[in-house]
Amino acid sequence: MPFVKNSWYVAGWSTDFEDRLVPLTICAQNLVLFRTRAGEMVALEDRCPHRLLPLSRGKRIGDTIQCGYHGMTFGADGRCVRVPGQSNLPKSAYVDAYPTLERHGIVWIWMGEPEAADPALCFDMPELADPNWHVHHGDKLHIRANYLNVAENLVDPAHVSFVHPTTLGNAASENVPVHVKTGGEAIVAWRWIRDAEPIGFFKKFGGFSGNVDRWHYYYLHLPSTAVIDFGSADANLALPEEERDKGVRIFALHFVTPVEEGYTIDHWMHLRNTALGDEEASEQMDRMFRIAFDEDKAILEAIHEEEQRPQKRKPIRIAIDKGPNVYRMRIRDMLEAEATVDLGEPVSPVFVQHD
Ligand code: FES
Ligand SMILES: [Fe+2]
Repeated sequence: MPFVKNSWYVAGWSTDFEDRLVPLTICAQNLVLFRTRAGEMVALEDRCPHRLLPLSRGKRIGDTIQCGYHGMTFGADGRCVRVPGQSNLPKSAYVDAYPTLERHGIVWIWMGEPEAADPALCFDMPELADPNWHVHHGDKLHIRANYLNVAENLVDPAHVSFVHPTTLGNAASENVPVHVKTGGEAIVAWRWIRDAEPIGFFKKFGGFSGNVDRWHYYYLHLPSTAVIDFGSADANLALPEEERDKGVRIFALHFVTPVEEGYTIDHWMHLRNTALGDEEASEQMDRMFRIAFDEDKAILEAIHEEEQRPQKRKPIRIAIDKGPNVYRMRIRDMLEAEATVDLGEPVSPVFVQHD
């Protein structure tokens, strides 16, 4: 299955990129990244057009990269600026340059047609720049699984009680139905667990002693950015759905970047409306998330291995699968749309009709 190319994908956090050449693979394309002296992020195809040595094996000289084999040198725009031993620069001596975008400490790369790289298409949310929210960049989780399975897991609240019993779920939610809305820009799956014991996470950070109302909203923005809005409020408040800010509210963001067909990196971070400026709380949350996301990783990798074996019959779908099913259909539509773009204008028809 090809990747959706016309999209911004997360390459890493701003702090990951300094002077050094950083090799990365996104959508099976090898890239080399670096930050120019003026602070701009550069992403180039990581393959010298001469003998194909990855440029990341070469040397950075100012804002150029000198290939580590015969010294051809490429600028930040990908164009060759020097060929040792000759004065002319062949036209075909270039590497592709990929548009980049950096905001809120996140570095994004546009993997599709450069002309279509519109910053307005990049994921954003107002809380990322709001002082009433504490923003914390987490880890990169490397998962040996296809990115569609990773993303699908993020619009699937029904797994929480079974996969994350000590952190994000408990038995109280096993039989609570999941609501799904698929009409908007993001696919949304959510449920409320009313008047139940708080889960481990909120016992620790919400300071709740009695029962709580707990919500989980999973927003999946195509192709693979997930926002998980979850929180709890004292059950006596009987909090309406639209007043979630009045409870202890957390957003876990997952930027799911396809590396190869069977390899994905989930860049995760979190925001919260409580314990602002408390780095100890951020670290405690990181620890709790690491436990939960490692549980997802174990499940997803086991499924991926099983998917590689011969299948006796098609996997079944059940009532809770509405979000994942719609997600797959939308991805298929995006791939189809890109394939049509790639075909270009029809040239002379293969068959000529004679009367
Ligand atoms: S392989 Fe890069 S200059 Fe020869
Ligand atoms: Fe999970």
